[in-house]
Amino acid sequence: MHTLPEHIAIIMDGNGRWAQRQGLSRLEGHRAGVDSATEIVRYCGELGIPYLTLYAFSSENWKRPKDEVLGLMGILRDYLSRDSSELIEKGVRVKTIGSLERLPKALQTAILKICDKTQHGKKLTLTLAISYGSRAEITRATQNLARDVLNHKVAIENITENLFAQYLETRNLPDPDLWIRTSGEFRLSNFLLWQLSYAELYMTPVFWPDFKRADFDAALKEFAGRQRRFGKSS
Ligand code: IPE
Ligand code: IPE
Ligand code: MG
Repeated sequence: MHTLPEHIAIIMDGNGRWAQRQGLSRLEGHRAGVDSATEIVRYCGELGIPYLTLYAFSSENWKRPKDEVLGLMGILRDYLSRDSSELIEKGVRVKTIGSLERLPKALQTAILKICDKTQHGKKLTLTLAISYGSRAEITRATQNLARDVLNHKVAIENITENLFAQYLETRNLPDPDLWIRTSGEFRLSNFLLWQLSYAELYMTPVFWPDFKRADFDAALKEFAGRQRRFGKSS
């Protein structure tokens, strides 16, 4: 396949509706969602896509019922505490973005461990957005930048788009080229608002637990056929 995206960002949506359709609990839907994520991570590695960012839990998802939130935290913890030998062997480096301080201690520990164990991975940077909200990220970046201005580390006239991006949690990632959302919803849900400025958008009605390699191929094919102009004439 030609013209592969360098960075793909995915809103993994529809676990709840998938579960409901099968007569299962929402948490079973989330567990099935982990299997899709595992398979897509593997596939990105095989295709040689260097950056994948997955929206796992939004800052707004804290508003869900306590049982679901706690269940999701447990599922994330189990996923991140799993045997990391496959990730290491395949050169996957795990990173996270989001307000980790809000997460249960056991999950924070699991995150630190997996990030540490996989830190030398060079093939695929897997960024998990957990307790992530784009507006919060931009607000925090602004606070830190304002502090640096007050401390005379940065002069106002030197604030550029590139400098501002250095204050975001995604500072070491290229902007996503392709954004995918499953489950037929047509919204950003506070995900990477700054970074997605020029991403190609792809939406599919498929629920995340049903999203497999063939669905990913369809998104890549659509991407390859798009003409990215970045404002220039065609
Ligand atoms: C996405 O599935 C997973 C998370 C938001 C954590 P949902 O739980 O949002 O599933 P639907 O949208 O209710 O079907
Ligand atoms: C976005 O999905 C967040 C994740 C997939 C983690 P939601 O299901 O929470 O988004 P809304 O509520 O439909 O906007
Ligand atoms: Mg949803």
